[in-house]
Amino acid sequence: MYNLLKGKKGIIFGALNEHSIAWKVAERAHEEGATFVLTNAPIAMRMGELNTLAEKTGSQIIPADATSMEDLTNLVEKSMEILGGKIDFVLHSIGMSVNVRKGRHYTDSKYDFTTKGWDVSAVSFHKVMNVLYNKKAMNEWGSIVALTYMASQRVFPDYNDMADNKAYLESIARSFGYFFGRDQKVRVNTISQSPTPTTAGSGVKGFDGFIKYADEMSPLGNATAADCADYTISMFSDLTKKVTLQNLFHDGGFSNVGVSDKVMDTFTES
Ligand SMILES: NC(=O)c1ccc[n+]([C@@H]2O[C@H](COP(=O)([O-])OP(=O)(O)OC[C@H]3O[C@@H](n4cnc5c(N)ncnc54)[C@H](O)[C@@H]3O)[C@@H](O)[C@H]2O)c1
Repeated sequence: MYNLLKGKKGIIFGALNEHSIAWKVAERAHEEGATFVLTNAPIAMRMGELNTLAEKTGSQIIPADATSMEDLTNLVEKSMEILGGKIDFVLHSIGMSVNVRKGRHYTDSKYDFTTKGWDVSAVSFHKVMNVLYNKKAMNEWGSIVALTYMASQRVFPDYNDMADNKAYLESIARSFGYFFGRDQKVRVNTISQSPTPTTAGSGVKGFDGFIKYADEMSPLGNATAADCADYTISMFSDLTKKVTLQNLFHDGGFSNVGVSDKVMDTFTES
């Protein structure tokens, strides 16, 4: 490996099991020499799998509901104590739609579900940055990354209200990133990842067809969770210091393809 994160300290949100994108990022960050705190919602802890990752990476776990300012304040304070100083990188890898979970169609959303999903999936990013910014918890040239999906910009009918949540999340990255850059020289970006077979991803209706379609549209094929971890590590490293306020596509080229030969072939009579 390259020691890209040697001596860097971080907080990683959202590792639920070995399929999680955050799990792969934690493994790669460890390989690259970082130390970090792992966090997830208290309810996710009950599944117990996070302990395995903590042991493997020599990390401590601090539970935090990412919608709770109290939990986030405790998380940031304790992380700085455990890691022995300010933070260099933060991964926000959190998403959840109650409308999706309960099978509500987009045209028949239940609005308290909408509000909850928006708070967890989008506003939590603002809350995380609010605590980090106001506590001056980030080192200069630190890097904050949140994960997003292309449905924020183009229609994917079954992505439901997560499309709106992702649009809001990407906007927060730009708006908060401006102040974080100007005042504390911290960069903030979103990575727009290919469909990936994880717990959250598989919750999207018709996910198998969806992932195959994206794969056949992309000249390089879908990016895996492991690929996403590599890219995220580069965004945490000192090699990307002047990249900020961006929504970065990590999707094998999908976002710029109108149609591929493979997909055309399925419509062409031989
Ligand atoms: N899987 C995909 O196809 C895909 C594609 C693009 C982007 N993403 C995004 O990647 C991120 C990670 O998702 P994943 O695919 O690894 O799935 P995942 O299910 O492994 O991770 C989602 C995480 O969010 C956490 N979470 C939910 N509510 C929370 C709360 N209140 N407080 C703190 N954490 C909470 C869950 O416990 C879980 O660890 C999400 O933002 C997701 O939208 C996923």
